[in-house]
Amino acid sequence: MKDTKLTVTNELTAPLNDLFGIFFEDINHAADGGLYAEMVQNRSFEFAPIDNSDYQATTAWELSDPQSLRVADKDPLNTKNLHYLTVDAKQTATITNAGFNSGMFYQQGEQYNFSFFVKALNGTQEVTVQLTDDSGKKIAAPQSITVESHQWLKYSAQFTAEQTTTTGRLVLTFPEGTRILVDMISLFPKNTFNHRPNYVRADLGETLKDLHPKFLRFPGGCLVHDGQLDPDNRGAMYRWKNSIGPVEQRPARRNNWGYNQTLGLGYFEYFELSEDIGAEPLPVLPGAHDPHHDREAPIAQLGDWIDDALDLIEFANGSENSKWGKVRVALGHPKPFNLKYLAIGNEEVGQAFFDRYPYFHKAIKAKYPNIKLINTSGPFAAGAEFERGWKSARENHSDLVDEHYYTAPTWFLANQHRYDSYDPKGPKAFIGEYASKKNQWYNAVVEASYMTGLERNADKVGLACYAPLFCNVDYKDWTPDLIFFNQSEVSPSVNYYVQQLFMKYQGTNNVDYHLANVPEAKVIDDGPLNDGLSPQADGTDVKFENIRLTANGQTKQFKGQSLSEKQTIRVCSTDADDYEVAFDVTKVGDEPKGAHFCFGEQDLDNTFTWVLGGWGNTDSMIRTMTNGMDTDWTQTSWTMNKNQTYHCQIKVSGRHITTWIDGEKMNEIEIPPFVVQPMYTNLTYDKKASQYYFKAVNVTDKQQEITLDTDLFADGSLYQLTGLPDAENHLGMTNQIERRNVPFSGHQFILPPYSVSVLMSTKQFRTQ
Ligand code: AHR
Repeated sequence: MKDTKLTVTNELTAPLNDLFGIFFEDINHAADGGLYAEMVQNRSFEFAPIDNSDYQATTAWELSDPQSLRVADKDPLNTKNLHYLTVDAKQTATITNAGFNSGMFYQQGEQYNFSFFVKALNGTQEVTVQLTDDSGKKIAAPQSITVESHQWLKYSAQFTAEQTTTTGRLVLTFPEGTRILVDMISLFPKNTFNHRPNYVRADLGETLKDLHPKFLRFPGGCLVHDGQLDPDNRGAMYRWKNSIGPVEQRPARRNNWGYNQTLGLGYFEYFELSEDIGAEPLPVLPGAHDPHHDREAPIAQLGDWIDDALDLIEFANGSENSKWGKVRVALGHPKPFNLKYLAIGNEEVGQAFFDRYPYFHKAIKAKYPNIKLINTSGPFAAGAEFERGWKSARENHSDLVDEHYYTAPTWFLANQHRYDSYDPKGPKAFIGEYASKKNQWYNAVVEASYMTGLERNADKVGLACYAPLFCNVDYKDWTPDLIFFNQSEVSPSVNYYVQQLFMKYQGTNNVDYHLANVPEAKVIDDGPLNDGLSPQADGTDVKFENIRLTANGQTKQFKGQSLSEKQTIRVCSTDADDYEVAFDVTKVGDEPKGAHFCFGEQDLDNTFTWVLGGWGNTDSMIRTMTNGMDTDWTQTSWTMNKNQTYHCQIKVSGRHITTWIDGEKMNEIEIPPFVVQPMYTNLTYDKKASQYYFKAVNVTDKQQEITLDTDLFADGSLYQLTGLPDAENHLGMTNQIERRNVPFSGHQFILPPYSVSVLMSTKQFRTQ
């Protein structure tokens, strides 16, 4: 076995700045029913089919008597909160809310703040408020609230739970004869994170703080730009001004993840949260463009959108004498939030966005030259739209470009050197969303290996954050995620501990070092991309004709195929290194979908696919499926029209793939060999803490060793994460990997199989 030696040349190099942070989006009920501590679901009767076709104004409420209890909108609480409950009790009537999951989480000894808005129609009346469990058992002493105002007025009450339950209910009882209007029925734990009102669940807030993130990207994601242009439309894009001020005046919003967003957790709270967890705020504003529905504001009407951006900066950083600074001060935060970063758009594709971005950029830089502006490069790691974003960023001198990729571990391993060739003088990459498809330890270790490469390239990579952050286990829209929870428990994923290690032990600068005698990398796959050829339908009826394979100097033609649903038929296979496939394809079905052509297909879980009309018939992509995990390697926007026949060609030369439609090049990609290095490492120094951090990741099943030819770590400490490759945390099973924090001495650094380690020592920086 070779003696791998670490020597430290000890020169401080690239600063790491705010490299590792987090991304919050209200997906998987991350905000409402999640981080936002409000316990009542549908507190303001604003749920509607626009949010979700199963929703109606009384969703999540149980009404004892529909004759006495109705939702109305004639004389609302205000113009942003249009629906309320009318109570005209012909007999004693009750309304019951179960919150989220199996019910509200009441904890013995904890206090809960109840409030509601009421307008009394009939003089003085009594409403009884109770906290119970799902069997009706009393959890706290009931309280009677006397309501008497003929104007909308807020009433409140406090409860102390006498028992613990996870099936809690909030029950309001109206005696016979009661005639009142009721709205904004709210229940919060008194003990929120940092004890702020209208804020964040304490346990989830602590879980974020424990990550030590350098920045917080918010509030989305697709959530930001999916919607109507008019900010007053119920299905509007996320407009930040709708999300501040008294919660009863924040309009409910359609959340494109299929539920209702109260906006109770809004921009002010996100700024507060950033401050509370020590992260730089990084808001994402819509760029007057919704790529999902091809909507964009005319260029002549960009004024309001640009003002939104300028006003946001003033809201965050302005003095109390400025219009928006004054609003921040009135909300209770006299000091500025020191906003440094601002993103315009999320995953934008299409020229419409990039025609508009320069207007935002110029106006913002003219007034606030120090704000770092973030452009976008779409949802794929390569291809025409990705290049369009980067071109725009270079032309406009954006500070950063947001890249997103959700890919298999093989992609991460094959792309370890992705950023080595980026231009350190150009805009920096912001990996605003990434994850490797599963919440198993192997995926987390591979993510760690990739993060050492992000650190190493800190002169080209400015920021990086895993996505999505949160998932309420009973409302999954998307996996993998970083932190799982329900109403009472939190289970950080195994990936969380990798992110935490890199954030907590990030350091301020890279340090020059050298590893000698590193064992050879293991080549897992560098062979040709050959095997089966299979046309496939992708959820709509398609017809394949004139299928031809040219390989080894011979052309063979195969029978045409009419396919529907997900039907696939292998027409032949090839063992040639270089080959060409041609076919004609026609979509005959109506669904907004297209077709696939699989090549190099070993089986359904291990194949290359040309996706024609993917993502709702909007893209042409080269996809791989590796052990059932898919990766979109490159993308070009393209739509397959019904009843139009397209002549398609695929050329495979070794590991190089090119596709054409009707003679026009569509996709081109070189699939790098899949190589596993015995170790992935990086050394940083933290000037503030006077700490060295040497990170080492072992993605293999063999132990690795490094001889430390330096005394830097002779009296240091070691934080090490190890586990079985398929280890995965779940609620109630939160420690499926081992985390050890031990003193370290000597010069032999052992990297166990599937491990992520950081060696640290407190030392003044010095040259050896
Ligand atoms: O992180 C989930 C989603 O993935 C985000 O909303 C979007 O930006 C991306 O497509």
